[in-house]
Amino acid sequence: EPVKVGVSFNVNGKDVTLELDTRTTLLDALREHLHLTGSKKGCDQGQCGACTIIMDGRRINSCLSLAIMHDGAKITTIEGLGTPDKLHPMQAAFVKHDGYQCGYCTPGQICASVSVIEEIRAGMPSHVTADLNAKPQMTVEEIRERMSGNICRCGAYSNIIDAIKEVGGVKA
Ligand code: FES
Ligand code: FES
Repeated sequence: EPVKVGVSFNVNGKDVTLELDTRTTLLDALREHLHLTGSKKGCDQGQCGACTIIMDGRRINSCLSLAIMHDGAKITTIEGLGTPDKLHPMQAAFVKHDGYQCGYCTPGQICASVSVIEEIRAGMPSHVTADLNAKPQMTVEEIRERMSGNICRCGAYSNIIDAIKEVGGVKA
């Protein structure tokens, strides 16, 4: 007999409560219970990054985590970053630089990219980040390393890097 447990999260600004089988992954909770199908299931075992979402300000592979472990969490999926009418700057940069082909990896790539910028900002001195327009200024190697958990089977990597460079700035 599956055991069901109540769990509440805030997803993209909306409070939701679900009754879930204790074995339900966060990815399945999002896709199958909340019908937020932007987050993709590539490998379902932590190797491709297609399921990347942002939880409490950090990126995670939602396929690797049980939903019931995250009661009270604040979750942002690709659906919460922007809308077709009002794209998030990272979404707009992916469009501008053609940062995708089939698009399957794209929601995860974009959630990861947004987090990478935040990670770099978090490590910057506060007098710099006080200026909200200050760009993180990453090296291309650093972007590649930080994005290495997101696989693109179409090989759109160089355009993805260009999109991240545009939003994050790049060191000479
Ligand atoms: Fe989660 Fe591949 S589906 S890492
Ligand atoms: Fe096809 Fe990345 S755009 S997998």
